[in-house]
Amino acid sequence: MDVIYYNGRRFYVFEEVYKPAEDTFLLADNMVIRPSEKVLDLGTGCGILAVLSALMEGEVTATDVNPLAERNLRMNSELHSVADRIIFKLGDLFEPVKREKFDVILFNPPYLPVEEDNIPVGAAWSGGSSGRTLLDRFLSDLDRYLLRRAYMVQSSLSKPEETYRMIEESGLEYVVLDRASFFYEKIEVLEIRV
Ligand SMILES: C[S@@+](CC[C@H](N)C(=O)[O-])C[C@H]1O[C@@H](n2cnc3c(N)ncnc32)[C@H](O)[C@@H]1O
Repeated sequence: MDVIYYNGRRFYVFEEVYKPAEDTFLLADNMVIRPSEKVLDLGTGCGILAVLSALMEGEVTATDVNPLAERNLRMNSELHSVADRIIFKLGDLFEPVKREKFDVILFNPPYLPVEEDNIPVGAAWSGGSSGRTLLDRFLSDLDRYLLRRAYMVQSSLSKPEETYRMIEESGLEYVVLDRASFFYEKIEVLEIRV
């Protein structure tokens, strides 16, 4: 098991669960959750974004296809005394929350343009050959589940213009809140608004 820190807070990360990295932290730095807002953290991994949302007094549902995420999230939510504000649902994208709507949706998707069949480890970062497999499915369905705003991360490696086009096509609006550059890619956080 690994340990990482964000703003002085400790998070445990199981083996075979995504280890929070620059993409996670860029999203965390920019998301705003208001007390009592209903939050969906898609692909929660170790649960860091769910826990931070609950610390801002959101009512959080966290999902993942990786069954190990449930125990990892529980450990971190108990560590930060917010377990009563978070529920976990196992499953693919919006499937586990089919009949619900959320004030805020968070998504740090697997976006690297590589094929990877190694579940659950590969599911943490592989976005299929274009990098967009999951992102496109997310953007196609987002407006049906979103009441207020969503925060998502994307990479220069996975056709960001396609994201802007899909958001506009579904009648939503977006702003780029923040960017970070690395030697092999640029990443950005979008806020998508109803
Ligand atoms: C890049 S990691 C982000 C983890 C965490 N939210 C963070 O920011 O550190 C992507 C997460 O999405 C999950 N995931 C992959 N495919 C998924 C799917 N179809 N539905 C839900 N979650 C999925 C992975 O298991 C992984 O935990």
